[in-house]
Amino acid sequence: MSATPEHHVVGRRTPRVDGEAKLTGHADYTVDHRLVGMLHGYPVPASIAHGRLEALSLDAARAMPGVVDILHHGHFPDLHRSPNSMRDGDAVSEVRLPFEDNRIHYHGQYVALVVAETFEQARAAAFRVAPRYRQEPGAMPGLAASDAEGSEAGEYTRGEPELAFGLAPVILDETYTMAAESHVPLEPHATLAEWREQDQRLVVHESTQGVFYQRNALARIFDLPEERVEVISHYIGSGFGNKLFMWPHAVATAAAARMLGRPVRTVLPRQQDMMTTGNRPASRQRLRLGAELDGTLVSIQHDSLTETSMVDHYVDACGGVTTSAYACDNVATRQRILPVHHGTPCPMRAPGEVSGLFALESAIDELAVALDMDPLALRLKNYADQDPQRGLPWSSKHLDRCLEGAAERFGWAARDPRIASMVDGDEIIGQGMASATWFAGRQPCAARVTLLADGTVVAACGTQDIGTGTYTIVAQTVAELTGVPIERVEVQLGETSLPAGPLSGGSMNTASTLPAVAAATRDALAALKAVATGPGGDFAGLAPESLGVESGALVAEGRQASFAEILAHRRLADVTGEGNAAPGDERREYSFRSFGAHFVEVRWDPGISRLRVARVVSSIDVGRAINPVAARNQVEGAIVMGIGMGLLEGLDYDPRDARLVNANVSDYRIPVHADMPEIDVELLDYPDYRFNELGARGIGEIGLTGVAPAIANAVYHATGKRLRDLPITVEKLL
Ligand code: MOS
Repeated sequence: MSATPEHHVVGRRTPRVDGEAKLTGHADYTVDHRLVGMLHGYPVPASIAHGRLEALSLDAARAMPGVVDILHHGHFPDLHRSPNSMRDGDAVSEVRLPFEDNRIHYHGQYVALVVAETFEQARAAAFRVAPRYRQEPGAMPGLAASDAEGSEAGEYTRGEPELAFGLAPVILDETYTMAAESHVPLEPHATLAEWREQDQRLVVHESTQGVFYQRNALARIFDLPEERVEVISHYIGSGFGNKLFMWPHAVATAAAARMLGRPVRTVLPRQQDMMTTGNRPASRQRLRLGAELDGTLVSIQHDSLTETSMVDHYVDACGGVTTSAYACDNVATRQRILPVHHGTPCPMRAPGEVSGLFALESAIDELAVALDMDPLALRLKNYADQDPQRGLPWSSKHLDRCLEGAAERFGWAARDPRIASMVDGDEIIGQGMASATWFAGRQPCAARVTLLADGTVVAACGTQDIGTGTYTIVAQTVAELTGVPIERVEVQLGETSLPAGPLSGGSMNTASTLPAVAAATRDALAALKAVATGPGGDFAGLAPESLGVESGALVAEGRQASFAEILAHRRLADVTGEGNAAPGDERREYSFRSFGAHFVEVRWDPGISRLRVARVVSSIDVGRAINPVAARNQVEGAIVMGIGMGLLEGLDYDPRDARLVNANVSDYRIPVHADMPEIDVELLDYPDYRFNELGARGIGEIGLTGVAPAIANAVYHATGKRLRDLPITVEKLL
């Protein structure tokens, strides 16, 4: 796609174009917006997980200074549930509307929204609201404390897995469990809603991974035409999936703004953020593997049970990765879901597959031990050269290079496989590894690119940058195709007034957005060429196709004229190009996935019961990295998250009443700087042009997959304890 090869902006390490705005506080996050007359919302969360709200005593709260109104069941408009369709782009995280009835389905569910003149006044009054509940017996506490089996949510079979398992000389049948996890984005959820009475318009600032999804859902819920709802999200302090689709706080805030005729802003406190805006559900997974003595896998059966809530049907598809991970003729996956009295789960970075790979890659390691085989050799032995589920070639797969390259850098060949055999002073060294993989998808996208008479370029797309670097890669793409320096490219994202863009989710954004941006850039350049070759133009009379593009100028016949000159000579302020891109027929011919490998060293000091991840060496194959510095940063961040998943993180629900007991970041432990190991990430560079013209498959999620099982496998090597329950807290090693 290179118009000016000497530039090579795409694929080059590029500092974030929004870095200065973020560092100087100019980046406008949702909470940075203040509107005239703005009120503040503060939700009141239910303190029980299962029962009914019998009464709300509001007098004391209403009498507090600054309180303007208190919304609740009985004082809330009649709204419409969103149809909640992915296809129509109106998916929501929880279909139940706030205050819909007086039933309580989970601890933290909103029973009221206090609206006051200041945040402090709203919060103070929220604590004076006195709800009276009737707690009901039989709260479902979560699958860790239940032997319920849930209901069917999908299955897949090829070959004769039961039969092959029965005949296999070496078998493994183990169950793996993991605690629910919280996303803990740095920026909590926040909504600022404004109802413009004069033109009956709802304008909402939201920290969201999908402005168009939220717009469409709000339009359905408030029964407004889509064009009268606007959603804005210029900057987002990450989301990891819990900002993909709208949650009830946004509906309640928008309703308050319309009822009161004043803008209302609600910023969720951390506790409520953890109770009410999703989680990666706990899972219980049974893996049955059958192998020949030489390690050939003859059967894989993967049965998964994951939690959902009482108000939704979220499926965390753990087996989705198992169907194509290894070359094996006999494979079955079964998925079940169990409704529990917890907040509704939602996608969390590499949803389903990251949980699934914990079980599968742990089981593969256990099988290697049973076979007395090197786990790396076992994986290569069962390498899937093509997609065994669909029988199609991979567009581009270099998992073998990942495995071998990372092993080399890690020094895997020097590993002594005997348990606790590698000792350094007081510490026992454990080394483990696992494969990583994540699907590669694309969504439709539209974009607009404008070349201006001052020589700058504006690129606009209604997608959003959740902190991953979308602003920068859009600017790189435009700079690459126009030869305009990246500093002169302005990128506008995060508004539904812009051409419709995709979710920032599923690691699909790069592959979805950049082809549309490239198409719009080419369209703008074509418009400029038409101007330049028209009457009075710098290249009047020449064929537009004969013009080249170089460094922000058009060139032909040894002359050049800058974009700015061409527009000035025709007295034009700008020319604009539109571009659209969508996945095509490529999926009929190829399967698209990204791949990787993690090698982990843990150090276990039995004298003081200290377990640390000391070293992680990873190789990742995601096609082309548009901005290697941001791409590496994604993988490093994902590895940090994987250390949390492996050793620290878990939502604790009281088994007696299903209440969440650690909805805060002191009891819900996430890794901190002191937990950081040496991290060595290699990005392989095999552009996947079958996927799109950029060759990029996307990189947000893959880095997390495989980290936790590699840690668990290393812990086994160090201690001889096979821990099949995450997180691997120190108590489990005693
Ligand atoms: Mo990701 S779970 O799609 O943010």
